[in-house]
Amino acid sequence: MSIQEKLDRMNRLRDQVMAGGGRKRIEKQHEAGKNTARERIDMLFDPDTFVELVTFAGEEDIDNLKAPGEGVVAGYGSIDGRRVFVYAQDFTVTGGSLGKIHAAKICRVLDSAMKVGAPVIGLNDSGGARIQEGVDALNGYGEIFFRNTRASGVIPQISVILGPCAGGAVYSPALTDFIVMVKNTSQMFITGPQVIKAVTGEEVSMEVLGGAMTHNQTSGVAHFAAEDEKDCIALIRQLVGFLPSNYMESAPSFPAREPAGGSGDLLGIIPDSPHISYDVKKVIALVVDGGEFLEVQPHFAKNAVVGFARINGNSVGIIANQPDFLAGCLDINASDKISRFVRFCDCFNLPVITFMDVPGFLPGTSQEYGGIIRHGAKMLFAYSEATVPKVTIILRKAYGGAYLAMCSSSLRADNVFAWPTAEIAVMGPEGAVNIIHKKEIDSAENPAAARMKLTSEYREKFANPYIACVRGYVDDVIDPRDTRKKIIETLDMLSTKEEEVPRRKHGNIPL
Ligand code: HXC
Repeated sequence: MSIQEKLDRMNRLRDQVMAGGGRKRIEKQHEAGKNTARERIDMLFDPDTFVELVTFAGEEDIDNLKAPGEGVVAGYGSIDGRRVFVYAQDFTVTGGSLGKIHAAKICRVLDSAMKVGAPVIGLNDSGGARIQEGVDALNGYGEIFFRNTRASGVIPQISVILGPCAGGAVYSPALTDFIVMVKNTSQMFITGPQVIKAVTGEEVSMEVLGGAMTHNQTSGVAHFAAEDEKDCIALIRQLVGFLPSNYMESAPSFPAREPAGGSGDLLGIIPDSPHISYDVKKVIALVVDGGEFLEVQPHFAKNAVVGFARINGNSVGIIANQPDFLAGCLDINASDKISRFVRFCDCFNLPVITFMDVPGFLPGTSQEYGGIIRHGAKMLFAYSEATVPKVTIILRKAYGGAYLAMCSSSLRADNVFAWPTAEIAVMGPEGAVNIIHKKEIDSAENPAAARMKLTSEYREKFANPYIACVRGYVDDVIDPRDTRKKIIETLDMLSTKEEEVPRRKHGNIPL
């Protein structure tokens, strides 16, 4: 065979792999409003940067491809010039189902990404374990789960769900750092509607059972809900821009930008009455670069706000209580959301900025029975173990255990600042006077008036930032307009922070 004939064969084979499951199945994919694996990769990466790996893996008869690419495209490319690894399941080939070689291709991506220290993005669109391959398919999932776990905290891992993701297959995304779903396109569930109906009699649609909003709003399994695939890809590119490539690097720096709006606007946010709520995201927008805040899990546990922003050009993790929802109380879901986010930031060298306005942990039997003690403890653990720079700003309420849990100085916040509106106390004035002045109130001629007077005296005396300042728990009371300046100056000072941790195998976070 001449070299030309050999080249022709190579190109013919490559064309076959590129064609995936063929024209008809590609049309079906498009009709469902979905792109093919290769189209998605092209959208994700900077133009012409994708390099494919293990292109021909798995074929017994190379000239007669049965499952071109084995239902998954693997390789690496660039996002804003930075190397990122990818695997994209190809639903047009055996429904993107996962067999031995399919799994091996994903493992290759994870292994290579670990070797060079680059993030991995998994584009999932699959009918699950390839039924014909039986236990080999199951083992393939196990190999992926193991690698996801080993890669955790070494390189960022992002899972994107762009079609079905059912059964044990959901556990690879669940082991990664972020799950992005697309509305009305992607579903995740352990058992599908038919099995549920047979076992429990319950009738539920795929979308209600495991659609994007179910997992973004109700279960908290997913972190982002994109409108469509284009929106989804833009979101992933934005997310990657906030992250370092691996645990030894810093996130990329950008030119600093002024926040959206003047710092004077910060004076108008906290209402005069402590009983009136406000939107803490307005504070964030007035402090971070360009007001740009990529909120993580915006639909879940809205009483807590977490996400990425930049301050003076550098990525930070932002955590805040949201007075506009459940008065900003900490509950089970908020505790889980905050703890996991703090741990992510700590893995990847992102300083943690905490904005505190918390009246306490949410009371009630549903919270106690659900294990608020166990879940709340995660926050104490996550903040205490984090060694990245930690800066806390107390905006208003800082009561009781929740004050400690929101990164107080005792959990080793490096610096704590309070606005003059801060109230730092064991509990809110109303609750406190009912306990410590019970007899006085009960015996008063006008108990309501007595309670009001005592409450206002308590607030004056205890619920302010100055006692905590005097004790050294708070570094300074600051003009709200200086918040950004203070954070910049403090992060600059902390940029060389080093902290010794005790020798041990690993801690045992309450799960
Ligand atoms: C082999 C599969 C497959 C699978 C789909 N296909 N799923 N082949 N193994 N798991 C094939 C179909 O035969 C078909 O081939 C093509 O992919 C497209 O599938 P359709 O059914 O035509 O597509 P659609 O109507 O869109 O339905 C998609 C679907 C459905 C909802 C995903 O295919 C489905 O229910 N599949 C089975 C899902 C499932 O139960 N998987 C096992 C989960 S358990 P042709 O040649 O006709 O195009 C699991 C355990 C993991 O995954 C455990 C890990 C620890």
